Amino acid sequence: MTDKYAVIGHPISHSKSPLIHKMFAEQTGQDMSYEAIEAPLDGFAATIQRLRDEGYKGCNITVPFKHEAFKLANELSGRARAAHAVNTFLFQDGKILGDNTDGVGLVADIEQNIGCKFLFKRVLLMGAGGAAHGVIWHLFNAGAAVIIANRNMDKANKLAAEFEGYGTVFAKSYEALAGQQFDIVINATSSGLSDELPPLPQGLFKAGSLAYDMMYGKQTPFLRFASEQGAAKLSDGLGMLVEQAAAAFHRWREISPDTAPVIAKLRA
Ligand code: ATR
Repeated sequence: MTDKYAVIGHPISHSKSPLIHKMFAEQTGQDMSYEAIEAPLDGFAATIQRLRDEGYKGCNITVPFKHEAFKLANELSGRARAAHAVNTFLFQDGKILGDNTDGVGLVADIEQNIGCKFLFKRVLLMGAGGAAHGVIWHLFNAGAAVIIANRNMDKANKLAAEFEGYGTVFAKSYEALAGQQFDIVINATSSGLSDELPPLPQGLFKAGSLAYDMMYGKQTPFLRFASEQGAAKLSDGLGMLVEQAAAAFHRWREISPDTAPVIAKLRA
């Protein structure tokens, strides 16, 4: 029997996840289906219950339900706890197991696909909302020192305080970044959605540095700015999307798909 999976979000119609998982399933010979399901804003838990009743094996969870998924899970992986969010459910033995593959997806894209290692690097993480929280633990895990910049300093300070025990972490205002330089600058703000540029000072990019925007699908003002400012490498978040999907696929099917041809196909 074909094993059923899905991605749950609102809205969900433009999700690339069904196409990505279809390519993974074909490549690895897995007998599975994967569809996009829009849950009503007040109907996430009911949608999950329906999937479980219908025998689905698991699902991905995207905006705006990742925190609700975190609360709904019966058991959480360490990385889901650190992220305070869940993007992957596994329905097993009558339980909902919650995991989060966003951070591992980001690190895999930057280290393996782009070829920039985090160990001993100075990383600027812009943003202190859900997207930043979802990945920060993995930056420490990979050995980076992290400076969090956010307009709202309360949020930045709170995020830094939460991760103090994991590695070197500072919270700074955008103005306070003047005169500093970074190896990797990651945009985890939602500024690209509104075509805005976070208020970054000049001269942030070290020679050979990477500018990475977790958004994908359009050239953001941040990537344009980084290019003008001399960042050596620029990347959107499409590779992260595919890598987080691969990690979820591995969680469900215990087999790792080859991500490179899938990323290439999506960029074609
Ligand atoms: P997400 O889950 O995408 O992180 P969120 O939790 O609403 O969404 O957080 C949005 C993040 O983008 C915040 O860090 C926000 O900064 P503030 O907390 O200072 O508002 C950041 N953000 C949004 N638009 C921005 C902009 N134009 N410039 C800088 N930061 C921006």
